[in-house]
Amino acid sequence: MLPAPDLRDALDAYVNELFAPEDDVLKEIQARADANDLPSISIKPFEGRLLQFLLQSIGAKKVVEVGGLAGYSAVWLARGLPADGQIYVVEKSSKHAGIVRETFEKAGLTGRAHVLEGDALIMLSKLTPHGPFDFVFIDADKQSSPHYFDWAVRNLRDGGIVAIHNAYRHGTVLDPQTADDYAVNDINRAVAARSDLFATIVGVGDGLLAAIKRPAG
Ligand SMILES: C[S@@+](CC[C@H](N)C(=O)[O-])C[C@H]1O[C@@H](n2cnc3c(N)ncnc32)[C@H](O)[C@@H]1O
Repeated sequence: MLPAPDLRDALDAYVNELFAPEDDVLKEIQARADANDLPSISIKPFEGRLLQFLLQSIGAKKVVEVGGLAGYSAVWLARGLPADGQIYVVEKSSKHAGIVRETFEKAGLTGRAHVLEGDALIMLSKLTPHGPFDFVFIDADKQSSPHYFDWAVRNLRDGGIVAIHNAYRHGTVLDPQTADDYAVNDINRAVAARSDLFATIVGVGDGLLAAIKRPAG
């Protein structure tokens, strides 16, 4: 039986209250996003906590995010790292990139949170020399996710994790209709078939496709 939406929302709120309460910095990011007419498509607090859980489970220090919007998920990620951790956010829109920079300043993350402005299809290669990375979070244009994912696997350390947001795509993976629906379904299936990764979809929020890079050989 599919969970009733109201029950799901109530359970998400319960997790938020117990494990992921937002402080003023996080609330202010959402207010800044609204004031700048950005869409309400950030991760939810309980998803931010899941990302932090994954980061801490592998002792992550160096993270890449593809798709920054206003920096909400990036702050969750940055706060899941040790004090000497580094996060690199790749964001195509100059408007969004500017807001992410402002977010990092207000969150006290200057010096360890970096914004790369431009199309991730181009910008990720500029990040390669800074790798290998412990964790890559992909939350941008769905049809390019396979390119970002392949870059991530090449540039992760063994035991590192690559995760893609919206693996359920609001349920449409069960009956894809649009090109984006098919793109998400295709990458879920492609990742499931790879023997160099240990992967699953964590059924939290809109689903998080998460894959650990296995050591070669
Ligand atoms: C869903 S939003 C990211 C939300 C953010 N991760 C959060 O939860 O707070 C997607 C972002 O990806 C950016 N984006 C879309 N295509 C991109 C590309 N080719 N390269 C880099 N960023 C891209 C958009 O401008 C947008 O800011």
